[in-house]
Amino acid sequence: MKKIVNSNLIRLFSFMWKDGGTPLLGISYIVALIILSSQQFLFNFVGALGLKIVTDSILAKDLHGLFKGLIFVAKWFGILLIIIPIFGFIYECCIIKTTMIIKENLFKKVLSLSLDYFEKKHSGDFMSRINNDVAIAEGAYSWQIMMLVMAFISGIGSASVIFYVNKMLFLYGLVIGLLHFTFNVAFVKPLKNVSDKIQSKLSEVVQRFSDIVSGAFVIRVFMIGEIIFKKFMQANLAVYRLSLKRVKYNSILAAYNYTAGWLIFFGQIVIGGYLVMKNDLTFGNLMISVNMMGSLVWLFGSVGQFLTNLQSSLAGAQRIFEVLDIDKKYLDDTEIEYNCVPMVTEINQNSSSICIEFKEVSFSYSETKEVLNDITFTVPKCAKVAFVGESGGGKSTIFKLIMGFYKPQKGEILIFGRPISCYTVKELRSLFAYVPQDCYLFNGSIYENIRYGKLNATEKEVIEAAKKANIHDFIMSLPEGYNTKVGDRGLTLSGGQRQKIAIARAILKDAPILLLDEPTSSLDSESELEVMKALNALIEGKTTLIIAHRLSTIKDADIIYFIEDGKIIEKGNHNELLRIKGKYANLYLKQFATKYYF
Ligand SMILES: Nc1ncnc2c1ncn2[C@@H]1O[C@H](COP(=O)(O)OP(=O)(O)OP(=O)(O)O)[C@@H](O)[C@H]1O
Ligand SMILES: [Mg+2]
Repeated sequence: MKKIVNSNLIRLFSFMWKDGGTPLLGISYIVALIILSSQQFLFNFVGALGLKIVTDSILAKDLHGLFKGLIFVAKWFGILLIIIPIFGFIYECCIIKTTMIIKENLFKKVLSLSLDYFEKKHSGDFMSRINNDVAIAEGAYSWQIMMLVMAFISGIGSASVIFYVNKMLFLYGLVIGLLHFTFNVAFVKPLKNVSDKIQSKLSEVVQRFSDIVSGAFVIRVFMIGEIIFKKFMQANLAVYRLSLKRVKYNSILAAYNYTAGWLIFFGQIVIGGYLVMKNDLTFGNLMISVNMMGSLVWLFGSVGQFLTNLQSSLAGAQRIFEVLDIDKKYLDDTEIEYNCVPMVTEINQNSSSICIEFKEVSFSYSETKEVLNDITFTVPKCAKVAFVGESGGGKSTIFKLIMGFYKPQKGEILIFGRPISCYTVKELRSLFAYVPQDCYLFNGSIYENIRYGKLNATEKEVIEAAKKANIHDFIMSLPEGYNTKVGDRGLTLSGGQRQKIAIARAILKDAPILLLDEPTSSLDSESELEVMKALNALIEGKTTLIIAHRLSTIKDADIIYFIEDGKIIEKGNHNELLRIKGKYANLYLKQFATKYYF
């Protein structure tokens, strides 16, 4: 436990001077922490000393002494009342800045993870870590560490003062304090266990929320709202029950602490009163002891609870570190570059007439099932090559391998005659424009969404691309034109309109190789014709790889590969494949018949 507290705490603090933090931030935080943590002791000490001077002066009927005591209290309280808010402000600023730095690190890390990781993780898990866990971890370096340091400074400071005033009172405080500590520590473990369980259940609750937002459409269509709600309620109820348990533990502890506090006060008055009567203690010193004893007992009573709270917060920090520490194998090979400049000219000068070549490539996502099995094929430069076949055959996987998201276990992939492993991620990604079946639009304007294709594009270039993609007129018909917001809560666009925006983005990128993964499968024939027109503008002069279920889209392809169970089982153009009357011909005739039947 100690080790986890130490290492996670130090790592949390490290964000104040590295990975985005600065020495100034770290030093400001530590100075503010020490000053703020000392405030309770300083106020108590000044108060107690003032009270002693005042009481002793009153008892001795010394008006000058009384006046001196009052001045002393007013002066020191005045100083503290100015210093404390200033350092409180500095402390808060340091905390806000540190939280910002942690989020920045998390964002960068998630951005640099490879596709593999996202395909296996639930998006709600990331959301929960970025929102919940950062907020929980913030507790550690904001108030929890301060309370802990405060308890120590105030407790040890007070103990020294009481020891100086009277050994007997000190001994009494120590014995009661240790008993107090033992009782409080007994609650540490159960409280920590409950807090940990609450955290993990809370993450489940966030994931369920994420499901009802991302899966809103499916939930309604399949009317599974009730089942999803039940699952949510299971997690939600678990959080409620566990929270109740935590409240129960905290209440018992609080009740005990009140009683203990009262006992200590009572015992001290009895012992102190006896000593004063015996003239072994002055009344003023008894006042000091009464004032300081609270802090000593507070140290013993709360240190366990503060440590537990700190541990729960550090459990949140641990979940953040898990993301930050994700194995390097999940990372892209090189740093993400935000301004990829296509190397079109250099590549077109390459003498090879082959654009992409797969040489006996085998690939599997896991050890259990081989997805691509000894595949060999070529894609000539500037050709239009199609991949068709049964669902799950491995078509999209071929695209993922070409784009370098995964590495094949066997065989070699060459692009423009150069092995894929010889390209940097930046070089490789600049070679492709990709139009997925379901185009993701980022929060922001249509203009921004198109411009992601080429970050330094001019307004003219963006509009030109939209025109070629056949979406310009539609955009202009919107009240805010290119500034119309799209994405999560923005305007809802149809599947075809989204695809055309994706096509405009791809046109703007002007990459030498186009990868189109079922670009028209979800459209009706009229929209399909429209999107095909837009695609033709994109395809011109480029090497195009297209995956299609609707064979009408790829009839004019130069080469068609029929993929089944990770193997190429037929190859040829449309007419050649019809002639051999194989799987392709069968599929084509089926689609043809369906079209005319309906
Ligand atoms: N990230 C992944 N992890 C594990 N298995 C995966 C992953 N992605 C795909 N698969 C599996 O690999 C196989 C091939 O998938 P792929 O997406 O390449 O098929 P496809 O031919 O594109 O199918 P469709 O026509 O339905 O899009 C499938 O059995 C699929 O379950
Ligand atoms: Mg696919």
